[in-house]
Amino acid sequence: MRQAGRYLPEYRAVREQAGGFLDLVFTPKLAAEVTLQPVRRFGFDAAILFSDILVVPHALGQRLRFAEGEGPQLDPITDSRAVKRLAGKIDQAVLGPVYETVRLVKTELSAETALLGFCGAPWTVASYMIAGHGTPDQAPARLFAYRDPDAFAALTDLLVEASAAYLVGQLQAGADAVQIFDTWAGVLAPEEFMRWCVEPTRRIVAAVRQQVPGAKIIGFPRAAGTLLKLYVDQIPIDGVGLDWMVNRIVVRDWINKRIAVQGNLDPLALVAGGAALDEAVDHVLAGFLGTPFIFNLGHGILPETPIAHVEQMLARIRHRD
Ligand code: CP3
Repeated sequence: MRQAGRYLPEYRAVREQAGGFLDLVFTPKLAAEVTLQPVRRFGFDAAILFSDILVVPHALGQRLRFAEGEGPQLDPITDSRAVKRLAGKIDQAVLGPVYETVRLVKTELSAETALLGFCGAPWTVASYMIAGHGTPDQAPARLFAYRDPDAFAALTDLLVEASAAYLVGQLQAGADAVQIFDTWAGVLAPEEFMRWCVEPTRRIVAAVRQQVPGAKIIGFPRAAGTLLKLYVDQIPIDGVGLDWMVNRIVVRDWINKRIAVQGNLDPLALVAGGAALDEAVDHVLAGFLGTPFIFNLGHGILPETPIAHVEQMLARIRHRD
């Protein structure tokens, strides 16, 4: 996920060579290289495309910068006029280098290794577009949606179209599956969750499958809690990413083997290592034994994660094969 490469010295070396983060994202040779690095080092079963969820607002004409050590910065969208100033649809030429990265990675990966593309869900992307940066509780976007639901709906509609087009571009370039990251799904009241998270994601899934029949799609409504049931019941996804806070017994029952499950390991258990990591890995595996399951973290790997702990985790998982 978003911090993926930063725990690897080989990522940091390429990142330095590229200059800015966006230069890295939009230089296919380098973006392909950092996509492949973790697969090469650890022999993972899948690679995730190196890009970012915020390239979509960027391709809609919102100015985006990644300032060193500060995370993403956008010119905030403060009212309906600012929504109207965005382009009516994404500029696919801006995203061309990302599709080229997908093509390059596909030529390098073995046939057994899957390539995962992705986008952010409209709610999560809108939360950055409105605040102009990351926020602890997404208050600016929640307030915007309460105060001007029509303008918020217009922004959501735009993001549904743009995200679907972006995912279709990745799938047509060769991505084997795509994931929709709703990192901030967990802050919404149930009605808002339905309106701004479930409904738009459902529309993206439908739009993508209309252009790419049978497209494999994974949803990730982070920290949705009990609302996860609505999400998996109402969106025809092929897999769901789980954070580490879920009650495995309850979630297993809700999903009932209908779709695949991925994720669930607390990224901090991976930072801690030792017996705590072994136990956490065992709990995840035991929790989903007998169901279609892809081992993964419950959120992005943290930059301070020791490489030895990743190796320990893989040995623990794989010695059961
Ligand atoms: O694993 C990967 O590297 C795949 C590519 C990927 C990135 N971002 C690259 C990235 C993916 C899947 C993302 C998703 C993403 N980006 C999300 C959703 C998933 C999640 O982790 O919650 C979100 C919310 C973003 C937005 C974003 N991009 C933030 C908040 C940040 C700053 C992170 C921080 O802590 O400073 C980024 C930057 C970013 N995106 C980095 C990477 C590798 C770090 C950039 C660097 O090298 O300095």
